Amino acid sequence: MRIRCNYTDHADLAIKRLEKGVLLVSQHEGKTNVMAMAWGFPGFMWSKPVFIAPVRTSRFTHDLIEGSGEFVVCIQPETMDDIMMRTGSCSGRDVDKLKELNLETFNVPEVSVPGIEGSLLTYACKVIHKASAEPLSNHTLFFGHVLGVYADKSLG
Ligand SMILES: Cc1cc2nc3c(=O)[nH]c(=O)nc-3n(C[C@H](O)[C@H](O)[C@H](O)COP(=O)(O)O)c2cc1C
Repeated sequence: MRIRCNYTDHADLAIKRLEKGVLLVSQHEGKTNVMAMAWGFPGFMWSKPVFIAPVRTSRFTHDLIEGSGEFVVCIQPETMDDIMMRTGSCSGRDVDKLKELNLETFNVPEVSVPGIEGSLLTYACKVIHKASAEPLSNHTLFFGHVLGVYADKSLG
């Protein structure tokens, strides 16, 4: 059971879990994918709530976010950390990770990308800007305007 909450609610949990890794969900043209993400920034830009997702240009996730202009960040409980790690060890180009890992999705009203069932926190993001991290690394920083946040009821 999830409830819509304020952007800053439970932000400490999101940052704490980012250190280990969280789930970055993308979807475009009927393909849904999920990958582990341990870099990221929940904060504010242009007076908007913004979640920055740094994604290496070679990732399948990169193609899907470029295509749809949307992504969802899911903060999973520790019991799902093994699953998170597995989403970071293979590509959605080669395997349907949701099917392989028995992950169920739920509709996130603000975007066309779904959330992952069992997550503690879910951020619905629409890309409003992107920047390259080159020459330091081959990542694109996707600046996601956070349109909605959902918290599992267990967070209180
Ligand atoms: C714990 C962990 C954290 C990761 N963090 C990132 C990240 O922040 N950005 C990134 O581009 N790749 C990161 N990766 C690598 C991707 O998750 C990995 O390459 C994944 O297989 C890409 O999947 P895709 O091709 O389906 O998008 C991380 C991997 C792990 C295991």
